[in-house]
Order: sequence, then structure tokens, then C-alpha cells
Amino acid sequence: MTKSEDRQGMNRKGSGGLEVSRRTALIGGGAVTTAAVVGRSGRAAAREEIPVLRAAPAGAGQTVMLSTTVNGAPVEVEIDARTSLLDLLRERLQLTGAKKGCDHGQCGACTVHLDGQRVAACLTLAAKAQGREVTTIEGISDGETLHPMQQAFIDNDALQCGYCTPGQIMSAIACVSEGHAGSREQIREYMSGNICRCGAYVGIVAAIETAADQMGEG
Ligand code: FES
Ligand code: FES
Repeated sequence: MTKSEDRQGMNRKGSGGLEVSRRTALIGGGAVTTAAVVGRSGRAAAREEIPVLRAAPAGAGQTVMLSTTVNGAPVEVEIDARTSLLDLLRERLQLTGAKKGCDHGQCGACTVHLDGQRVAACLTLAAKAQGREVTTIEGISDGETLHPMQQAFIDNDALQCGYCTPGQIMSAIACVSEGHAGSREQIREYMSGNICRCGAYVGIVAAIETAADQMGEG
């Protein structure tokens, strides 16, 4: 440490009795390159260069041009290759029906359809929607006429706070079209990936039974 550095306050004592040189730790646009740890005693020995991971600046990921269809409308958008389908829908396209519950594929609140198959949008890369059809809760009604599953949820009082409901409905539609709504036990099994913290399960199962009849696939 030079007297000049000392005057500028560039070195600070850490709790472990070490002095850390900030100037050598932070170089160029916030990217961390090395941390220099210097012994406290002032002896010349023990100057150790510790390599640390180099962090890319925020937003510097590889981008891709995505061409997809969302609720029947063509979408062309440049995205970071790491963007999840859920973040694309909610943050870029302002389709906030699909909810971010856990962001780990464990609650089902983000369920949407990709080419008619239900997927957890939080675990699906948006890039996987390239050339495919995405359907969200915003896209299932026919104008002012609700989808039979939406109406059945209302008629069977299948929600309380409603946070899980868009994911429940999208999953329920797929459950019926897959042919997995043949009994209450089967419905419970094939809807087990959709969690309702309010415990509205009795109404949810009843709604799916009702809608399955109307959809002709029960
Ligand atoms: S937010 Fe996707 S499964 Fe929970
Ligand atoms: S209605 Fe509240 S979490 Fe399902």
C-alpha cells in the first residue's frame, strides 16, 4: 500500500483483520476481476491474487428473434435467449393472466398451452415457442362468451382469491382434452400439478366434471 492509496481511502480493514484493496477488486464497468488481500501486519509478504468469476454486464446475453403466435395473433419479438415463456408473456406482451407463483415448476399458476399441450411457462424457454402456437387464459373465450371451463369455475364457486385460477383453468381444459377427466379420482390425479392455496379443490373438481360434459369429452 502506498501513502497515496492510504490518503485516498482505497484500503479498508475487514472484520477478519484483513485489508482489501477496492481498486484491484473493481475494474472496468463493475466487472470483478481480482481481489487483492493484504496481510494486516504491514509485512511485505502474503500478497495473494484471488481470481473470481467474471460477470457479464446485465442484459448482455445472446438474443434471438422469436416468431410465434399468441392467442391467434402473430408475434415477432427480439428476446434474450434465456427469457422464460412466462416472462415473455407477462413482461413483454403484457399478458398477465398466467401468474408467477413459484417460478420453479411446482405450483401450476403459470400454466399455458403450447400447441394445445399444457406447459409450465416458468420452466419453458420462450425460444421454444418458435413457430408454434401459444394460448393463454386471455385467448380462450369467444368474444364475450366464456369458455365452458371458465363458466363452470364460476358456477361451481371454484375459486376464492383467484390467483391460481388462470393456471387451473388452462390445465383443466387440457386435462379434459387429454381424456383424463373420467372420474373425480382421475381429475385429482391429473390436476395434481396445480396447487390452490385457498383449498378450493372440491369446487375445482366439480367444475371440471361440469365442463367435461359440456365439452363432450368427460
Ligand atoms: S410459477 Fe410456474 S409452476 Fe409455479
Ligand atoms: S383460489 Fe386462491 S390460490 Fe386458488
